[in-house]
Parts: sequence; structure tokens; C-alpha cells
Amino acid sequence: MTDFASLGLAEPILRAVASEGYTTPTPIQAQTIPYLLEGRDVLGIAQTGTGKTASFMLPILHRFNEDKQRPVARGCRALVLAPTRELAAQIADNARAYGRYVGVSVAVVVGGVGHQPQIKAMSRGVDVLVATPGRLLDHVGTGAIRLDMTEVVVLDEADHMLDLGFLVPIRRILSHMVNRRQNVFFSATMPNQIGQLAEEMLSKPAKVSVTPVATTAEKVRQAVVLIEAERKRDLLVELLADPSFARTLVFTRTKHGADKVVKFLEAASINAAAIHGNKSQGARERALGGFRDGEVRVLVATDIAARGIDVEGVTHVINYELPDVPEAYVHRIGRTARAGATGMAIAFCDTSERGLLRDIEKTTRQSIPQVDRRLPGASDEETIHVSKLPRQGRGQRPGGGGGHRHGGQGQRAQGQQQRSHGGGGGGGGGNRQPQGQRPQRQRSQGGGGGGQQSSRRRDGGR
Ligand SMILES: Nc1ncnc2c1ncn2[C@@H]1O[C@H](COP(=O)(O)OP(=O)(O)OP(=O)(O)O)[C@@H](O)[C@H]1O
Ligand SMILES: [Mg+2]
Repeated sequence: MTDFASLGLAEPILRAVASEGYTTPTPIQAQTIPYLLEGRDVLGIAQTGTGKTASFMLPILHRFNEDKQRPVARGCRALVLAPTRELAAQIADNARAYGRYVGVSVAVVVGGVGHQPQIKAMSRGVDVLVATPGRLLDHVGTGAIRLDMTEVVVLDEADHMLDLGFLVPIRRILSHMVNRRQNVFFSATMPNQIGQLAEEMLSKPAKVSVTPVATTAEKVRQAVVLIEAERKRDLLVELLADPSFARTLVFTRTKHGADKVVKFLEAASINAAAIHGNKSQGARERALGGFRDGEVRVLVATDIAARGIDVEGVTHVINYELPDVPEAYVHRIGRTARAGATGMAIAFCDTSERGLLRDIEKTTRQSIPQVDRRLPGASDEETIHVSKLPRQGRGQRPGGGGGHRHGGQGQRAQGQQQRSHGGGGGGGGGNRQPQGQRPQRQRSQGGGGGGQQSSRRRDGGR
């Protein structure tokens, strides 16, 4: 098995990786780092939680270690673009951790906070800038940031970044990067039509796909509960009465929906906080920070927290409402079972969401076990007594009727079609993981999921 040293990474990087507790590169790391060190463009696809961040960051840091040029004033040598502020901050933290013995300067430029500190941070230039597109363009427009000397650009969550809403700003950003030498795109998902666009933007890329697109995290047990919309509330409260739901992420479709869930959880004396696009940046950071520290037991989120966010020890992901875009399911459930850890994902599916469920199963090429009373692999104590919950009439959601909130099935990429690898359904207890797939981390985390994101995705409600 490859180790980090045999990938050709410089000693200060090997030391940093060892102090992170990584002993073995994950498959995406082993397969992309050599191309990236050669300076090739790369399109890398691997499941959630399998270490894509280090895949692109370590070679950037290696470059800086070998070639210690100073960045130009207001410029950056490497630019990493991410879709959300929280993900940008997390990637910057990773860059600092992986780069601690190289001595790199790192800045974050995102919306929702003051411009002035960002202008100041960029005034002398930095090695690595991690940014969200909108705020970066503001600074480029005023001349506070220049991109003409940037050597490497990375699009993390690339499919999403090339999706509706982000494509125009991304094209504008790339047009400023005249000196750009290397383009790197990573994601867990890559719908076909986005993949073509990605390839147009890359020059003779090395394409590395560790698993078929839209493959869910390997060690996540999945279950779906078919339930009337009106009973979801009671089921959520009942599930959370179980202390094994120690760090639970609940996804809703809308910001309003997230607030409503927090309200009724608080009314049931369950410690919860919401994170979504209508919250102030301070409130967003407090919610995510509290969840990371363990002060907040239940984080209720829109898809703003679906991609990239790495919180250790998330025990459960609950899809309180199914996402409109099937690929989002893969990203959402990928917040658990990261870096070799196990986790459980439970979807609540009401009558109006059956079509969405079918789309998810088709996209992920697996059938999600339906449970009424018992979750797959659960002990007697863990049994969910769904059928005991009070019934309140036949629950069709107002205006619901049949599911397909989004059109264009044919629009979605089908990726490489491969039938459910490893024991259909992802339900049964997570033995499906091939050995080499799991990051070998001392504090036992890791595994994987992937997925893809459709170009139909809009940021609308989150
Ligand atoms: N080689 C490794 N060995 C052990 N743990 C690792 C290794 N590489 C990364 N990790 C850990 O795995 C976790 C997931 O890494 P990362 O966030 O980069 O995943 P990702 O592939 O980008 O996932 P997502 O698709 O959700 O963004 C992190 O906590 C990271 O510290
Ligand atoms: Mg990531």
C-alpha cells in the first residue's frame, strides 16, 4: 500500500500529515497527488469524507515548499473556491494544519463579514486564498485582490460551482487568471452535463474517479421511514429521545422549515440550533461551532451545510424532508460516516416525496431499506416504533400530490452505471467497505461517500 512518502511529498508535509494522525493516503489521495505534483490539471471524484481536501492541498503546499517565491501584493499563489463560507473557513483551517511546517500564509475571503479586514489580509499577498465567488469578485472589482499571478486554482465541490448561479461568477474569476498554470476540480458528484463543462475548463485533465459518481458513503447505514407529513415531528422527537443520537444533523428543504424544526425541538427540551442562509454570519458560526464542540446536540440545516462540512463524530443524519435534487442526498448523508467512522442516515418520506425517493434511489443505484418498526442492524432497544406514533388522518401534504417537484429526469446525468456495489441498499451495517477505501486514521474516522450534484440545483431556499 502506498504511503505518503512514496507519493513524493516533501518532508515538512509528511510531518504535518503524521501529526494529523494520517498513516495511509486514501485512494483519491494516492491516485491524484502524483498528477498534481506533475502540474497536471485534475478532475477528481471520490465519495464524501475520503480526504479530497488533502488531495488538492498537499501538492499545493509541496509546490510552495519547493519554490519559496513571495506572493505579489494583493495576489495569491493558489486560489481555492468553495460554495459556502463555512466550507471556505474549514478548507483554510486545513491548509494551515497541513502547511504548518512549510510556513504558508492563508487568507479567507467570504461574504457576510466586513470587507476591510479582508483587504488588509490581502494587501501583502498570500500563498493560499480560500474564497467564495461573490465576495472575491467584489474585491477583484475594486482592485483589492488581483488574480493575474495565481498559479493554481481549485474548485472544490466543482459540480456545484459550475451549476446554475455559480457558473457566471466562476467564469469571470477564471478570466482574470491570465497566468494560471494548473486547474483542479474536485467533488463527490459530477452529473454528466456538468462533467462536460468541467472538462472544457480543464486542459488535458487527468480524470480520477475512485467510485462511480453519486456513490454514497460506504459506512453509512441508511433507512427510509414512509410517514405522513403530519407525523414527522413526533417521529423526530421520539428518535432524539434516544441518547445514541448524540450528534445529529437534520436537513430541511427550506430556511423557514429549519426554524420550525428548531422551535418544536426546543419545546421538547432538545438542544438544537439552525444554520441557513437567512441567519447572520455570527449566528451561522455559533451554530456550527456549537455543533462541533458538542454544545449543540442537533444542528438543523438547509443544504448550506450539505457539502464539504467535516464535523467529527456525527452519529446521525436525518433527512426530515428529502432534497429536491437527488445528488444532494448523497452530500447530506456524507456528513456522517467520514474518515472510516460509521454513521446512520434516516430519511423521512411523506406521500408527496415518493417521487423524490425514487430519484434518489435511481441516482445512487441502490434501494434504501424502508423501515417501519426496526432500523436495519438495530438492536431491540434501538427499534423505532413508528407504528406507535399517533396517527392524524391520511397525510397528504397540502399541494403535495405525487412528488416530482423538479422536472427533467432526462436532464440528470446518469454517470457510469454500475449496479449497487456491495449488497444493495446500504442498509445493512456497513460491512461493504473495501479495505483500501478507508482512511487509516488513528482516531478511527473515515470512509466515504460520493454523489453528484445536478445542474438543476438552485440556491433558492437555503
Ligand atoms: N489519509 C487520511 N487518513 C485518515 N484521515 C484522513 C486522511 N485524509 C483525510 N482524512 C480525514 O478525513 C476527513 C474527511 O476529509 P475531507 O473533508 O477532505 O473529505 P472530502 O472527501 O472532501 O469529503 P466531502 O465530499 O464531504 O467534502 C477529515 O476529517 C480528514 O481529516
Ligand atoms: Mg470536501
